[in-house]
Amino acid sequence: MNRKQIAAANWKMNLKWAQAESLLNDLFKQPIHFSPNQQVALGVPFPYLSMALSYAKNHSHVEVAAQNSAQYASGAYTGETSAEMLQSMGVHYVILGHSERREYFGETNAVLAEKVKLALQNGLAPIFCCGESLTIRESGTQNEYVANQLKESLFDLSEFDFKKIVIAYEPIWAIGTGKTATAEQAQEMHAYLRSAIAAQYGEEVANSISILYGGSVKGANAKEIFGQPDVDGGLVGGASLKADEFLQVIAGLK
Ligand code: PGA
Repeated sequence: MNRKQIAAANWKMNLKWAQAESLLNDLFKQPIHFSPNQQVALGVPFPYLSMALSYAKNHSHVEVAAQNSAQYASGAYTGETSAEMLQSMGVHYVILGHSERREYFGETNAVLAEKVKLALQNGLAPIFCCGESLTIRESGTQNEYVANQLKESLFDLSEFDFKKIVIAYEPIWAIGTGKTATAEQAQEMHAYLRSAIAAQYGEEVANSISILYGGSVKGANAKEIFGQPDVDGGLVGGASLKADEFLQVIAGLK
C-alpha cells in the first residue's frame, strides 16, 4: 500500500498542561515501529502545539496538527490563529471542517474553501473533515451529501494542491457516541468518495489521496476498519486521550 496510512489524534478541547505532557510521555516512552508509509499526527489544542512539536522533532513518522486555522491571512482578527503562524512554528497538518466546527462555529463549505486555500498557500496540509448527520444517513442521501462537501470546499483546487489534502470521513452519528460505522459502511463511503475524486482529478490522484475514517475508533476496532481497502487510517477523538488505546490504534494501521 503506497498511500500514506495515518493515525491522527484529535484531542479536541481536552487535557490540562500536565496531563498533556504525561500523555505525550506515555505515548513515546517505548519506540513505536512504523512502516515507511505510516504516520502519526498529533492534533492538539493551540497552547500545546510547541510541546507536541518538541516530541515530534525527536520522532520520525510523527507530525503535529492544529485543530483549526483562520479564514483570513493576518491582521485585526482578535483570538484567531493564522495558517502562516502555524507553518512558521513547524506544524505540518491542520484539521479543517470538523463537524463540531461546522455545527457550533458556523463553518460552511464556502468558509472552509477559504481556510483550505490559505492553509495550502502557507504550506500546511489540511486534514479535511466531511460526514453526514443521522437524518441524512436515514434518508439514504449520504453519498451525495458528503461528495458535495468535497465539491464545494475542495474541487476548485488545482491538481497540484489537491494532492496535498488528507480527507477524514466522519459520520456525525458515530462521533463520540461509541457507535462506530461498520467497516463495510466506512469502506462503501470511502470508495464512493474516491470515485468522486477520480471523476474530478483522475484515477491516479484519487488513488494517491489518504482517506481516514473517524467516529468512535478505538484500539479494539481500528485494525478491522483500517484493514478496508479504501480506509487509510483514522481521525481519533476519545481514544487518542489514553496512551494505551492510541498505541493500539496506531498498531492497527496497515
Ligand atoms: P471520537 O471523535 O473518536 O471521540 O468519536 C472523532 C472525531 O471527532 O474526530
